[in-house]
Amino acid sequence: ETSAAARSERQVRKALMDAALAFFRGEVEKSSTAKAYCAGRGIDAATIGTWELGYAPDVGEALVAYLKREGHPLSEAKTLFLVDGDTDRGYSDKFVGRLIFPIRNERGDVVAFGGRLLGDGVPKYINSSDTPLYRKSHVLYGLWQARETLRKSRRAILAEGYLDVIACHRAGVTGALASLGTSLAEDQAKLLKHWCDAVTILYDGDAAGLKAADRAADILAAEGLIVDVATLPAGDDPDTLLQRDGPAGVERAAAATQSPLDFRVAQLERRLETTDPAFWVELYDLLANAPTELELMRQVERLAPLYPELRDVVAARKALRTEVMRRRRPAKAQAAKGQAGVAGSPRRAGLAIDSAELALLCAYLFGERRAEYHALIGDAQLFVTGAAARIAAAISDAFPEGPPDGPPAHWLDRLDPEIVSQISELDSDRLGALNEKFVGDAVARLQRQKADRLSRAEAVGDDDPLSKSEKAKERLERLKPDERNS
Ligand code: UTP
Ligand code: MN
Repeated sequence: ETSAAARSERQVRKALMDAALAFFRGEVEKSSTAKAYCAGRGIDAATIGTWELGYAPDVGEALVAYLKREGHPLSEAKTLFLVDGDTDRGYSDKFVGRLIFPIRNERGDVVAFGGRLLGDGVPKYINSSDTPLYRKSHVLYGLWQARETLRKSRRAILAEGYLDVIACHRAGVTGALASLGTSLAEDQAKLLKHWCDAVTILYDGDAAGLKAADRAADILAAEGLIVDVATLPAGDDPDTLLQRDGPAGVERAAAATQSPLDFRVAQLERRLETTDPAFWVELYDLLANAPTELELMRQVERLAPLYPELRDVVAARKALRTEVMRRRRPAKAQAAKGQAGVAGSPRRAGLAIDSAELALLCAYLFGERRAEYHALIGDAQLFVTGAAARIAAAISDAFPEGPPDGPPAHWLDRLDPEIVSQISELDSDRLGALNEKFVGDAVARLQRQKADRLSRAEAVGDDDPLSKSEKAKERLERLKPDERNS
């Protein structure tokens, strides 16, 4: 019986929200002010239709009268943030003189409304508070409209507000949705994780938007989402971009992304001069949280020439790296913290790779003595795991004449992108600063293991010495191409 009662209560509420939507939608057609406002903002009839935009008339009890006429209980309408008041004082509308944006949850039910003043004034927007149908932190505006795109692309474009989402969709960026307001809730990130693997943050190009993007990046990464940040010109949002530069402007903005680390460093560079010691102190902390060795290396390469006091770039690079490593928390502490930054990042998953192989590869890629290791990288039999063997083989194939010059950023594009992405997953945390003795010991271990393997193979009765390297090759090919450990 309770469940029947609950069901009928749900039906009453659903009918109320649908009635309110029908009312608002009818009103926008009747209101020349509302239509003029939309026209002035480039919101055409098709957009009004697609997004079911409505209008709450500029009189205090229009919706109340409509709901009464249609026989809906006003007390229930109150719990749904549609009306205010009570039977004694009388009821009044919550939304008055506002353009209405219905909010559907991921099942397509109308659960809330947002209303924007047609002109200037405060508050600019009124949004439904939490109601029996709506929990703000569990709903994303536009998710319903973006669902088909998300199923295919698995990437959401996270904007700030109603008109930003609408502008994105109009520009063909149909994976767009909004947290509404500038703070993304953890539960909204969890909801996103169900629908996609990657999120592009496309917040407003003002101070509040930049700050919110910084926070959102951490919240999303903590849920295991891959995060990129698109930075809009100061004063722009997707809607102003669409008005000024057309669909291509929005598309371009959504595609021009940075990693959260690059985004944060860029913001720091805007805020402080590199001649200011405070710049470097903040930079160390940012870089200490670099999710991958490759990202860290890129920034070190880029910023070392600006390092104060040191003329020699190699020394600057080293000094910078030392400062960063000193600030790195141990991997365990990060894992225990279980969120934000390194441990929470999906790219931190790490390849299934032996620690000695990791030491050798990192020394080769990021160290100063690449030439000494080149021959070792070319020795396919030295590597135990498929991941390491593939990376080494790709490098050695790409540079048959000898080791490439300069930082990896200058030559990684000669490798297959898949290999580069594996390189970027190399987890160098356990390595600390590249230490010659450490790498030397690692190489010695790999060589000892290789010798052991070869002599075991002989003992088993491999009497054709020519087939040995063939066997090793076979062994490598048997290793599955995808052996990540998590
Ligand atoms: P903005 O101030 O950037 O508004 O807030 P907007 O979406 O660009 O709208 P226009 O172009 O000025 O008309 C972004 C989002 O923050 C929430 C709304 O969801 C809005 O879309 N917001 C903003 C509020 O909830 N209340 C407010 O008073 C302001
Ligand atoms: Mn805006």
